[in-house]
Amino acid sequence: MATKNIKVLGIDTSCDDTCVALLRIGDGKLEILSNIVSSQVKLHARYGGVYPLLAKREHQSNLPLVFKKAVKGECFDLIGVTAGPGLEPCLWQGINFAQELAVKLKKPLIPVNHIEAHIVANLINNKLTAIRFPAVCLVVSGGHTQLFLMRKIGKYKLIGETRDDAAGECLDKVARILGLGYPGGPVIAEYAAKDKGSICLKLPRPMIGQKNYDFSFSGLKTAVLYKVRKEKTKNKKYIQAMCAEVQQAVVDVLIHKTIRAAKAFGARSIILGGGVAANNELRRQFTSNIKRSVPAVKFLVPAKIFCTDNGSMIALTAFYHRGKIFKKIKANGLLSISKN
Ligand code: KG4
Ligand code: ZN
Repeated sequence: MATKNIKVLGIDTSCDDTCVALLRIGDGKLEILSNIVSSQVKLHARYGGVYPLLAKREHQSNLPLVFKKAVKGECFDLIGVTAGPGLEPCLWQGINFAQELAVKLKKPLIPVNHIEAHIVANLINNKLTAIRFPAVCLVVSGGHTQLFLMRKIGKYKLIGETRDDAAGECLDKVARILGLGYPGGPVIAEYAAKDKGSICLKLPRPMIGQKNYDFSFSGLKTAVLYKVRKEKTKNKKYIQAMCAEVQQAVVDVLIHKTIRAAKAFGARSIILGGGVAANNELRRQFTSNIKRSVPAVKFLVPAKIFCTDNGSMIALTAFYHRGKIFKKIKANGLLSISKN
């Protein structure tokens, strides 16, 4: 069915990035008019993780500027804002800003679930019809590691999730143990890529053999901590080897469980999303494993800039939920996207 072009604004302040994007969507096509991300990474690096009240203050001062830069005085028809999950003080900055804008400009406002947006991000650089259903979706970010069975946009069933730390959180904590700074994922990937394989370290692959779709990553972080404490020569080679092994342990578990879920549920697509999906090894090894063990399954992963938090994924998700009426928007009020 043809849809007339509409312009959608997307706002995300769920964690440490202030994100605003403007999309033009219609007739099965999407055009990114702007996608601005103001990162607070340098600020939080001092604390080795995100400091929520500092992040909230930064969103408060950055959001009007990021909005101006993204919109450049253009008009738009619909506003989407992340309502959760996320850091509550940060979420309210985006929600309050979007609500004031919606009232002032008399535009509809759609609260967006951040996890669903990480899944929908797969359509930003793709045809809007790219997903073949049913799809198995793996969302791997700093706050979440969840597997969903997706029947269509808006219809998801949670089939597994982490019982403790998220995959990205584990990488962030390991980077801290190794003194590599924040965020951990990209720096661990960088060190791992330089590993020559001369030091053999073996870490566990938690829950890999269990016949469920759940994950656990806190034991992996603890295993790194014990090994590092015992090691006397923590030179560059050792750090590179540890980074390669911890990254491989995370990749092994994520791929194994996702492909097993795809087989069990007869998935026609496997979809990734979230910051950890920007990882080169995860992308490369997913591609080759799918080709080898489930070749008929289509593999989708967003471009790297749309794996980490961004406003475009919020705008596109809002587009799919347009027309719905939301009386009251609450931070973390849309905590679950799991529907049978
Ligand atoms: O989706 P995201 O930007 O924010 C959340 O919703 O949490 O994900 C951030 C997470 C952090 O844990 C970060 O270390 C991880 O994604 N990350 C990566 C890479 N880039 C970001 N992990 C592995 N490899 C990367 N290249
Ligand atoms: Zn995210």
